[in-house]
Amino acid sequence: MKIENAKIINLPKILDERGNLSFLQENSQIPFKIERSYWIYDVPGGEVRGGHSYTTNQEIIIALSGGFDVVLDDGTQKSTVSLNRSYVGLYVPAGLWRHMENFSTNSVAFVVASTAFDEADYVRDYKFYQNSNR
Ligand code: TYD
Repeated sequence: MKIENAKIINLPKILDERGNLSFLQENSQIPFKIERSYWIYDVPGGEVRGGHSYTTNQEIIIALSGGFDVVLDDGTQKSTVSLNRSYVGLYVPAGLWRHMENFSTNSVAFVVASTAFDEADYVRDYKFYQNSNR
């Protein structure tokens, strides 16, 4: 899997003077069926989340509040994507290493995932990842 397979997805934004609304829906904004969602919040300053890849799970990461950086790594190249808009999703395919860092105060990372949680789907050993992604 290569970094180029990750992509930014601009989600619909319904502008309204009462406040804006965005959404995502299977088979239109996102390229997989949603099996799970989770969110990461109350991240202390300087902490790093992620730091793994998945064998089959695909994800879309959205900064619902505040902002953070997603560092993508395919074992050869790295690329940092800063997320700080609640209408922008980052599609991360299976097989790409990633971690999240530089969380702003009160930021919330919302993630929709293509598979149910399964620890066996994680690759947490970077050297192993790098060797198997050549
Ligand atoms: P993990 O994915 O390792 O966190 P991060 O990649 O952000 O550092 O998950 C942390 C813990 O939460 C780990 O024990 C697994 C558990 N977990 C679930 O039980 N269900 C889930 O959907 C997720 C994402 C994690």
